[in-house]
Amino acid sequence: MELWHIRGGRRLEGSCVVQGSKNASLPILAASILCPLRCELLNVPQLRDVDAALRILRHLGCRAEQHGNSVYIDSTGLSCCSIPHELMEEMRSSVIFMGALIARCGEARLSLPGGCQLGRRPIDLHLAALRQLGANIEENNGEIHCRPSTLRGAEIALPFPSVGATENAILAACAAAGETRILGAAREPEIVALQDCLRSMGAEVGGAGSDTIRISGFRRRKSVSCRMIPDRIAAGTFACAAAAAGGDVLLRGVDPKHFSTVLYFLNQAGCDIISDTRSVRIRSDGRLRGVGELETAPYPGFPTDAQPVLMATLLRAAGRTEITETIFENRYRQVPELRRLGADITVDGNKAVICGVASLRGAALTATDLRGGAAMVVAGLTAEGETVICDDGHITRGYEQFDRRLRALGADIVREY
Ligand code: UD1
Repeated sequence: MELWHIRGGRRLEGSCVVQGSKNASLPILAASILCPLRCELLNVPQLRDVDAALRILRHLGCRAEQHGNSVYIDSTGLSCCSIPHELMEEMRSSVIFMGALIARCGEARLSLPGGCQLGRRPIDLHLAALRQLGANIEENNGEIHCRPSTLRGAEIALPFPSVGATENAILAACAAAGETRILGAAREPEIVALQDCLRSMGAEVGGAGSDTIRISGFRRRKSVSCRMIPDRIAAGTFACAAAAAGGDVLLRGVDPKHFSTVLYFLNQAGCDIISDTRSVRIRSDGRLRGVGELETAPYPGFPTDAQPVLMATLLRAAGRTEITETIFENRYRQVPELRRLGADITVDGNKAVICGVASLRGAALTATDLRGGAAMVVAGLTAEGETVICDDGHITRGYEQFDRRLRALGADIVREY
């Protein structure tokens, strides 16, 4: 158990280099098994979820090492196509190994993945897409078994642009004979990053970033060196922290287009935002306004992962903000904890209404999930007195050196572990 001690009320000043993307790194780590050659991945954040993916790779018989932010994988020795439950349950992204294993071995055996409890999180779309490619999958009491299968290209129409289902379909389609078209694909930057890495490995994939992706397998396999894109949710979190606490912060190594919706709402709330292609400067006097209505949506809409953190930012903003969460059914778990600080939030189904209060008071909180935990940190930065967040490792699953980066900006935050 970790304790995060935060004394609120300090302005944030200075510059911060934002970490590489967790949600781009995890599917690319799974993709490394499609290419039985040396694979070098740069700017990979040092996180628990990345460790979990490396342990899965080693269990499968690959060499996988992380030195700082560089990861080296050699999957030549892959000797196994099953993943035990203990490894699967560590994170949601373990499910992406299903498409990768089916592509490499034609078969796979694994169990349902773990991850944040944000609602039901079924994998029906993943299974349907893989079955359309010819995967012979049985699901029994949470155990998934794909018997040896020959994959053939197909037209897959996703009824919802699921990020994970799109990633699984792309990976499996790389080993299918003929062309695959994924219609209604997720358009997130992480999908484009996966495509770019697969292309460097020699796969023919195109269209990522639009709703139609075409895959026609590998021409020839090449060893690869690939740099992870910046983490748009971490970038949005630091932007929110600066907005809420007040200050002048330069975020470096980011792609502002990737979190432009978050920046849009921070601007609406009263922050000055100046961006160029690789950096964003946020200036805030800490006196924010409510932003009216906002709704989460698949990319390029407002990201569900940034919703708890933006909510925390607006707790002291003058006026109202009404949030509609359309992606996950249980993404307001942070609300009862934020209320302990004195926040005025009412939840009705998938809607949350925040009425700004004049001040928040520090309190003892429990982190409920990764982004909910980050939201509590942001709220703690603006509360009077001390906030202590008790966290069973959720926050460090997604944020690299969160406490150090915030301290470097002047926050009074200590992580005790
Ligand atoms: C990914 C991100 C997560 C982010 C989410 C939405 C990673 C590691 N995680 O998660 O941080 O919050 O995208 O942007 O990249 N659904 C189904 N059936 C399926 C699959 C999904 O009904 O087979 C539903 C989910 O329950 C959810 C919605 O679709 O309501 C979105 O899920 P999805 O886009 O698949 O999210 P993840 O890939 O799990």
